[in-house]
Order: sequence, then C-alpha cells, then structure tokens
Amino acid sequence: MQKPELPPVAYEPQPYRGPSAEDVLRSRRQFLNPGLFLYYKRPLMIVEGKAQYVFDEYGRRYLDALGGIVTISVGHCHPDVVEAVRRQNELLQHSTTIYLHPNIADYAEKLAAKMPGDLKVCYFVNSGSEANDLALLMARAYTGNYDVIALRNSYHGGNATGMGLTAHRTWKFNVPHSFGVHHAIAPDPYRGTWGRDDPHAGLHYAGDIKSLIEHATSGHVAAFIAESIQGVGGCVVFPENYLKHAYEHARAAGGVCIADEVQTGFGRTGTHYWGFETQDVVPDIVTMAKGIGNGAPLGAVVTTPQIAATLAQRLHFNTFGGNTVVCAQGAAVLYVIDREKLQANALKIGNRLLAGLQRLKQKHNLIGDVRGKGLLLGIELVKDRATKQPATSECAQVLENCRDMGLLLGKGGLYGQTIRFSPPMCVHEQDADFLLAVLDRAFSGL
Ligand SMILES: Cc1ncc(COP(=O)(O)O)c(C=O)c1O
Repeated sequence: MQKPELPPVAYEPQPYRGPSAEDVLRSRRQFLNPGLFLYYKRPLMIVEGKAQYVFDEYGRRYLDALGGIVTISVGHCHPDVVEAVRRQNELLQHSTTIYLHPNIADYAEKLAAKMPGDLKVCYFVNSGSEANDLALLMARAYTGNYDVIALRNSYHGGNATGMGLTAHRTWKFNVPHSFGVHHAIAPDPYRGTWGRDDPHAGLHYAGDIKSLIEHATSGHVAAFIAESIQGVGGCVVFPENYLKHAYEHARAAGGVCIADEVQTGFGRTGTHYWGFETQDVVPDIVTMAKGIGNGAPLGAVVTTPQIAATLAQRLHFNTFGGNTVVCAQGAAVLYVIDREKLQANALKIGNRLLAGLQRLKQKHNLIGDVRGKGLLLGIELVKDRATKQPATSECAQVLENCRDMGLLLGKGGLYGQTIRFSPPMCVHEQDADFLLAVLDRAFSGL
C-alpha cells in the first residue's frame, strides 16, 4: 500500500524561529496547569495554520481533521476574518457595553437573523461554559424553578455550571457542583436499550425524562438542556424525534428548553444551520461558542424577548462580552459561511466521508459504529462487535498512526474509544479521500 499524500497546496509556511517543542514542553510542565492534557506520545507543536491545514515547527503540513476541537469553522487564518480583525484592532481594541459601538449591535442583528422563531435577543460571553452558565441563570430566573434535566454522556463546559451539567466522570471534580441537575439516560442508539432498528427509540429514550422529573424533582423544572449531537461524548446522534418528545416533557413541567449548539451550530451538520433543526424543534434558549468565532474567545446565548426580559431585573455586565474585535471576527465568520456556501460543503464532504467510513467498517472489525452528520462524524472502536467492549488503546494508536501520516483527528467517548472528525468546513474532496486512505492504513498497521 502506497503512503497517502496530502493534496498539494500553493502555500509555504513561514520559517519558524521560536523555541523548540522540547523547550515549550519544559516550560509548560513548570509553569502551567498540570491538569492540561496532550495528544500524542511525542507531543505535536503547531505554529501556523492555513485553511484546513496546520504546520509544525519544521514546516510539516497536517490535515486538521479535528478543526482545533470543532472550533475552526471557516478555515485557519481565513483572509476575510484576518482582515476584519486587523482593521478593528487598529481602530479600537476594546470598549464595553456602557458605551455604544456599532460592532456589537451589527453582529447581534446578523446573528439573530440566523435564528428561527422568537429567538432574537443576543448575549455575548467569552466561552461555551459561560454561555451555558448564563442560560441556566435565565431559565431559573424566568421559570422560578430550580431543577434542571441534562443528559448522561454530555459535555457542557469546565466551570462550575458546565461541570454540573456534564455527565462524564472524566471532567467532574469531587466537589459540589451539580446543584439541582439530574441526568437522564443518554439517547445513544448504539449503546443504549433502543437501537436504530426501533422507529420509536426517540419516544422511549425521552420517557426517561418524564420519569426523572416525576421521581427526582418537585415536578417543576427550570430547564432541559442537551447538545444537539453529543460531541465530547463521542458524536452520539439522537434517534429521530427524541428532542421533540424531550421538549414536550420539559415544557409540561414548566421548563424551558436549551440547545447547546457549541459544536453543532453554524452549518456544521450540513443539512441545517443549527443542530436542533435536524430534530425539528425550536428551543427557548440557544448557547453557542467554538465555531462561532473561528478561534476567537466568543460565546453567545440567544433567547426570546420574553425570557430576556426577566434578566433585566438586575444589571447584567460582562467585560469582554461583545468586545469590538471579537464581534468583528464573529460577523466575518457569518459572512464567510454564507458566501463560501460552507454548510453545503459540510454536507457534501461529510457524506463522502460517511460513505468512506462505512466502507472501512466493512473492512476493519474494530470499527463498531459509524455515525454523525455533515462534518461532525465519529467512529466508535470496540474490541468485539458483540460485547462492544471499548477499544481505548487501539483508538489512541490509530490517532498516533494517523499523525505520523499527516492527519490530525480527535478522540471522544467516556473511554476515549471514539474517533472524531470535525475538520474546518472548507475541506475538499481530496482531503476526504486522503483522510480515508490514511485511516485505512492506520487500522491496517495496528
Ligand atoms: C457542547 C459543548 N458545550 C460547551 C462547551 C464548553 O465550551 P468552552 O470550552 O468554550 O467553555 C464545549 C467544549 O468543548 C462543548 O463541546
């Protein structure tokens, strides 16, 4: 088998003159949070990026098929985004909402135009964790209720609220954080009780929410929150109609419905701009981050005027939320997604990848499941298709093998058993073919 070659590009990275990876690693170990984790036995240092590619300190190119952990939506250092940020940086880098500035108002209007229904009021924050924290505050202030229903296998952030909503032991410290949060069973058609062959799986899984509300709460809840596809949990796609039934149960108990679109938003699922639309629901609150800013520290919460009105009972302030530069970056990202038809590209390339991954499943027994939508895809590795025992070490080794061939992938799932694919939405067919060829070889080399 010939070694797959990255598609050619007319781009030369700049010579790198900074410290070596070994020096950076040494400083990191001495001066940074020891809880930080690294991919790869021989840690990779990335010093430059262009579109769907990144470069290490030696100028070696890699296909970034994880997209900076689902964050690079329109491509690394997109020229329109870079230019919008440069222009704003030269004029005014920071101001806050105590003064008027056109960028925040303009950006809010453009973002609201992307939302269905009454979802028209925007709040800007700095991250997905902050967005979910604010969403919970809104839900509780609006409903007057306290309890929240989240899902097992979810990831919603690393601050106290995010950790409380998250349901993976990996990310949860042994400190109080889950106040009022109850986790319903994950609607996972691969591992759960009801599989893809059951046309009513969505209804069955949602039944657990009703039961949880009846047994674990006063019968009144503030909110139901879910990712539209569970990303960190290993790209778990819910059965059809799951969110519809889940929303019905939450609303019947007085709760509002929060869609965490941190990974699924901005066209990544291909068929729709928002992940929740793939389930034909309209939430009351939507949280966003990651791909919204193509790398800027930008998060947002969008809700209805009615819910927003309750947050006007107190002053609300966020120093960097709606910063002049990040709003310019966010607006440029929205523009590029539309102009370059990146949602359509996510669908086209995503389908090509999905078909290729299904072919690889026929060939490699380690692949137990292939799933996802658009450019948010995953393959779950199992030692045995009957027992579904997670193939954790094999998954890590496939990632190592791929890295050696110039392909960067992600990992997910409670046991690190799922390979995740979420490249920038500007990837080409040749990149997809390269990815599949590398992956095939990586499995064969185990
Ligand atoms: C679905 C989801 N929500 C929230 C977050 C938290 O976002 P942040 O890391 O920006 O705080 C993440 C991060 O991975 C996420 O995947």
